[in-house]
Amino acid sequence: MAAASGHQIELDGLGLVLQADAGETVLATLERHGYRMRRSCRNGVCEICEVELLSGCVQQRYPLCTLENNNQPSGKTVRALACTSVPLQDIRVKIEGLRVPGEQLVKKLVCDITAVEPLNHDVYRVRLHLPATNSHAIEFHAGQYLEICLPSGRKVPFSIGSAPDQSRDLELHIRHMAESETSNAVMEHLQNSPSVEIELPKGDCYIQAQDLRADTRVILAAASTGFSQIKSVCEHLLANQCSNPIHIYWGVREAADLYLAKLPEQWQREHTNVMFHAVVSEPESSTDWQGRTGLLPDAVLEDFDDFDNVEILTSGSPGMVYALLDACEARGFDAAHMHADVFAYAPRPAKA
Ligand code: FES
Repeated sequence: MAAASGHQIELDGLGLVLQADAGETVLATLERHGYRMRRSCRNGVCEICEVELLSGCVQQRYPLCTLENNNQPSGKTVRALACTSVPLQDIRVKIEGLRVPGEQLVKKLVCDITAVEPLNHDVYRVRLHLPATNSHAIEFHAGQYLEICLPSGRKVPFSIGSAPDQSRDLELHIRHMAESETSNAVMEHLQNSPSVEIELPKGDCYIQAQDLRADTRVILAAASTGFSQIKSVCEHLLANQCSNPIHIYWGVREAADLYLAKLPEQWQREHTNVMFHAVVSEPESSTDWQGRTGLLPDAVLEDFDDFDNVEILTSGSPGMVYALLDACEARGFDAAHMHADVFAYAPRPAKA
C-alpha cells in the first residue's frame, strides 16, 4: 500500500504553495521550508502561532478539534494553531508577520569597540563601530539582537540598543553581574580588546514604523536592561516620524536601576505622542523616589481599560513577559499583537 502523502499549504498573499508531509503540522512545514513565524510553546498552550484558515480543513491536535473553512457565506473567521494543526486536505492560510526564507541573512562581523562606559552602578554602554568596508552589513530591524562571540567560542546575546538608521554605530547596554562567569568573560573581553566579533541580526521581535496602522497604539514595556531593546524601537519610530501614541513602561527594582531615564524623559518632552512611565518595585530601597511604584504589568493595566488596536513589544524575564500577557489578555488583548524574544525560548507556563 502506498504511504499516505501530505497536503498542500497555500500562503495567502504570497502566491506560494508548500508541500506538507503526511502528519506534519503547519508550523513544522513552514520551518522545514525556511519560513519563520511567531511561535513559543509548540504544544497548543500559548496560542501565539494562531493563523487564519481561509479554506480547507485541519486536524488540530491540541486543543483537539477539526477546523474547517469551505468558504461558507457566513463570513466567520476560522483560526487554527499552526503548531498543532495538520492539514486533512489542501488548505489556504493567512499568517501575520510571516518571514520568508532569506529575508535577512545573519552575518558575522568584526567591530571596533569605541567605548565601554558605566551608566550606573552595574550597567555599561558599549559602543561598536563597523569598518567602512562593512557598511552594507548593518541590516537589522529595531528590536532585534546580536550575539557577541567570545574567544572561547561562546556566543552571548544582547539586544541592539540603537536604531537601524544610525550609520555604522551600534549600542549595547550590558549589565555586569560579578557572580556570573559569562558576564565576567564578556566584560573582560570588551574592556580589554580593540575589537569584537559579532553575529547579527537575530530574533523575530521587532516593530517597523511602516507596518503600523494609523490607529495603532504602541506599548513598549521593559524590565531592567530590556530598555535597550525598546530604545532601539522608539528611536526607529521617532526617526520615521511615527505619530502613533507610544507608551513606554520601564520597570526596575530600585530607582538607581533607571540608568538612562533622562532619555525617555526627553522623548516625552519633545514628542507629544510619547508617554513615559518609570515603575519602581522596591521603593523602600529608593529613598528619593517620588514616582510610580509596583509591578510593571499592574501599571499597564492601571492605564489601559481596553487593548483594542494595541501592539505591545516587551523585553524582560519570562516571568514578567507572561505576567504582562496574562494581565492584558484578561482585558481582551489578542496575544498575536505581543512581541517578545521570550516567546522563542521560554514556553508559556500552562494555566492552572
Ligand atoms: S500554541 Fe503554538 S506555539 Fe504556542
